Amino acid sequence: MSKLWSGRFTEETAESVEAFTESISFDHELWLYDIRGSVAHAKMLAEQGIITEEEASKIFAGLGEIKNEIESKEFEFDSALEDIHMNMEAALIKKSPEAGKKLHTARSRNDQVSLDLRLLLRGITKRRITVQIVKFQKTLIEIAANNINTIMPGYTHMQRAQPVTLAHHLLAYVEMFERDKERYKDAYKRIDTLPLGACALAGTTLNINRESVAKQLKFKRTSSNSIDAVSDRDFVIEFISNSSILMMHMSRMAEELVLWSTKEFSFIEISDAYTTGSSIMPQKKNPDVAELIRGKTGRVYGALVSILTTMKALPLAYNRDMQEDKEPLFDVIDTITNVLHVINEMFKHIKFNKERMRKTAAEGFSLATDLAEYLVTKKMPFREAHEVTGNIVKYCVDKSMDLHELTIEEFKRFSDLIDNDIYSRLTVEASVKGRKSYGGTGEVEEQIKRIREKVDKNWTEE
Ligand code: ARG
Repeated sequence: MSKLWSGRFTEETAESVEAFTESISFDHELWLYDIRGSVAHAKMLAEQGIITEEEASKIFAGLGEIKNEIESKEFEFDSALEDIHMNMEAALIKKSPEAGKKLHTARSRNDQVSLDLRLLLRGITKRRITVQIVKFQKTLIEIAANNINTIMPGYTHMQRAQPVTLAHHLLAYVEMFERDKERYKDAYKRIDTLPLGACALAGTTLNINRESVAKQLKFKRTSSNSIDAVSDRDFVIEFISNSSILMMHMSRMAEELVLWSTKEFSFIEISDAYTTGSSIMPQKKNPDVAELIRGKTGRVYGALVSILTTMKALPLAYNRDMQEDKEPLFDVIDTITNVLHVINEMFKHIKFNKERMRKTAAEGFSLATDLAEYLVTKKMPFREAHEVTGNIVKYCVDKSMDLHELTIEEFKRFSDLIDNDIYSRLTVEASVKGRKSYGGTGEVEEQIKRIREKVDKNWTEE
């Protein structure tokens, strides 16, 4: 079929150029959004008397047929027609030449492509990603609720620091995912802006009604500057940026799962169904799923750098460079969808080695801070308590003893303020239970209540 823009050309497009410039091989995914946009646009054109009701009906019927053909896989996308917008329009013109040729009145592919991406991202954000995040949060909260008394070492600098509960540790991730969700929701506000009607860039001399299109397509806002409308890909960047942060969180979690499943840690065992073997070492059971989650973070960051770089020196308004936004975006959507799905499944199949966690939590002088805080309750200034405790730890290291193994006489050599009540403080259980400050490991049940309330809050209730 000849090009829809062939009027001013005398030569055919080179085959290599056709292959190089086409986007239909990937933007065909936007077909349904493109049709929805066209239906709303045609309805508005008829309302405004720019086309007749009859013409609009023909357009609706034609687009309906095209929809059916695509759904039943009869439709053939043609790369000579470049992209989804022209494929849809050309197919309509074939079906209904007179009316079809009027559809592109007062719009351009530049505003169409932005519209299609916004329609896609609205659904993906509201009905997929945030829903998946909530699901995973609920899985983690459930595991946390069952592990309020499971004690494990908390780390700083990857050194055992203080005992915490497994619940507390998992809830830290739930908080991270809550922020991720908030970021997606916030970005949604900016996705939810109608660009259609910006036309190529300057608006139109025709008497269109953008509000009607916005209403039909349920957009909260209508872009108020037509040049910005077709130049803007911030909403794509924000989506990928938010996904990068989500993946960074996923990757940190995956890294912990890899570490925890080593023989050295032995904190967890991931079930066979969520691990893989080695082709040469028969004994191996590898945490490949976690590793791949960590690994896939790279491609999401790559997409972010790609889109930021594509946009960074583009003069206003639309430039063809912007076509490069779609493949990375689609890849990010697929990646985070898969990651959220598989990590949620996998987590339900992790066995926690509670004995081992508790045992390691008690090692490495993890109760030193408890001793220092004990001295503070006896009115010793914290700096001094820190010094005294440090000296006691040094003494224990030399003698290969643990804190609770010292006699009261030995303790008193360091400070007279230490009495027999110290022994009941020097257990991991007491340490964990005592940390009742807001957000602390001793008030995890309250945290569960608080986060449950937040997580349960539906998007529409806000
Ligand atoms: N396929 C193009 C893209 O993805 C659509 C817009 C093309 N506009 C144009 N004037 N060439 O960005």
